[in-house]
Amino acid sequence: MKVVSVHLGHNATAALAEDGAIIGVLSQEKCDNVKNSAAFPLDAINSLLSEHEWTTDDIEEVVISGNDVYPSRAYDYLFEAKNRIVDSSPLVSAVKGLRDGVAGRIFPWPFDVLREFRGKKLTAEGHAQLKTSLEALGLGDRPRSHVEHHRCHARAAFHALQPIDNREPALIFTMDGSGDGLCATVTKVDENGYLERLAETPASASLGGVYSNTTRFLGMKILEHEYKVMGLAPYAKEQYMLETYERVFKPAIWLSKSNPLIFESQGNAANFYDYLAETAVGERFDNMAAALQHLTEELVTQWIRNAINATGIRRVFTGGGVFMNVKLNRRIQEMEEVEQAFFMPSCGDESNPIGACYDHAISKGITTTPLSNLYLGVSYSNEKIEAFIAAHGLRDKYTIEKHDDIEATIAGLLAERQIVARFAGRCEWGARSLGNRAILAHPSHMESFYTVNDYIKSRDFWMPFAPSMLDTAAPKYLRDYRPEETKAPYMITAYAATELGVEHLRAALHQGDHTLRPQVVEAAASPDYYRLISLFKEKTGVGAVLNTSFNLHGYPLVATPEQALMTLEKSELKYLALENYLLVKR
Ligand SMILES: [Fe+2]
Repeated sequence: MKVVSVHLGHNATAALAEDGAIIGVLSQEKCDNVKNSAAFPLDAINSLLSEHEWTTDDIEEVVISGNDVYPSRAYDYLFEAKNRIVDSSPLVSAVKGLRDGVAGRIFPWPFDVLREFRGKKLTAEGHAQLKTSLEALGLGDRPRSHVEHHRCHARAAFHALQPIDNREPALIFTMDGSGDGLCATVTKVDENGYLERLAETPASASLGGVYSNTTRFLGMKILEHEYKVMGLAPYAKEQYMLETYERVFKPAIWLSKSNPLIFESQGNAANFYDYLAETAVGERFDNMAAALQHLTEELVTQWIRNAINATGIRRVFTGGGVFMNVKLNRRIQEMEEVEQAFFMPSCGDESNPIGACYDHAISKGITTTPLSNLYLGVSYSNEKIEAFIAAHGLRDKYTIEKHDDIEATIAGLLAERQIVARFAGRCEWGARSLGNRAILAHPSHMESFYTVNDYIKSRDFWMPFAPSMLDTAAPKYLRDYRPEETKAPYMITAYAATELGVEHLRAALHQGDHTLRPQVVEAAASPDYYRLISLFKEKTGVGAVLNTSFNLHGYPLVATPEQALMTLEKSELKYLALENYLLVKR
């Protein structure tokens, strides 16, 4: 059974599945190079089909993640409206005035926009666009089904991560801003894989919405810069953070007394910006970030504890955008009540087509296969790279050599403290670089941190870089690393660094609290990358490299040679390894 699944909306994404196994996932942003692109993922589907040498004739069914369908313009409009207000709202009172006047009519308040879009006319437009797009692909006549949004999050986490040899009962927690009218669910899975939803919270009491609105209140982009707020949090002093928490955040949202598996809030969380405008003006930015992070960690860990106490089940799976928060995940894996924790990587809505494929497989009685790695996108052979180099006349501009052992070449350059962009194999699905589209550097020297930042990434000064480390090095660098309880292959959870970790990974950890968000690399999942880091270790004694996503600031992670070349040309980057070809700026 061959299936294509599609997530429409913010960060539109397509997935291909065959007989219960996910064989390809690609976000549209990696095709049109527009971050979080909401365009129908036509290019993504076509790229995946050609990667597998399939045609649309091979596809038997189409599965849509989510019940709500809106046209892509609605999402573009929503996103623009949200951020336009961010850009124009340094003075809250002025904005409130504007909101009630002209600006309010032209740019409706965030989240209110979606409500406005809930009209039948727009849904009809969404369905019509979906139909037209599928017809254009030649898929108009295939059976089509929808899977509810939070069911997708739950299925994705559970079936992607559940070890094949362990079918014990589990709890799945999903949490996001909102999807199909909900923001959080608790689901119990029995030993037969049957899912029973124990609780669901309506979107009006959304902790994700509180997080996003606070992100906006701090002058950053909603649905995009939440990780920067998390990164800012460790810089606050605990005493001041707690004062802000008690005064601003604690009274705003809580777990229900009558049902401790659902959330309740003071007013609609969608209007949390208004609440902040009334209660939080004058609060320091770092205290706000830290108090919000504290709220998130306290509430979510208590929520999970409540579900464990109610069911006696201690294996925990998580999905949905809120669980992109690596510090929250660290708290979860440290909970005494939690026996094992499985965090879905890149668990925003870009993970939902994966969940939809799994749900479809289960509905057909097909056994599902977990993900073995996230290299699920497009690849380019050396022949294709050679043709690309020739077609663009790159030999006139760069020194180019083909290296039989490109991993050894890169490891050597990194040991000499050079910075190298690596383009190899299939591109990663999701938000994080896992080595195949990566900018790599020596992790021990702060010089790497500054050079990567100044020349290529232009990140905010408080944001850290992360390491890719050998599985054998992980216990030496990470405190309380217990892979039997939580694996860390996808940069989705954080650890405190050991003393040696701080010494070896000085440029690849959070400068404020010395935590890090590692990719623990196993040879089976990524043999070439594993060898590269091993060769680097032979030369330096350091079992890790600094790895940051291969892209310019504000662009999505690179997928194609064209995007790689653009990044090389628009940055101070000197070395680019395109498969076995090393391009060096003269
Ligand atoms: Fe979601």
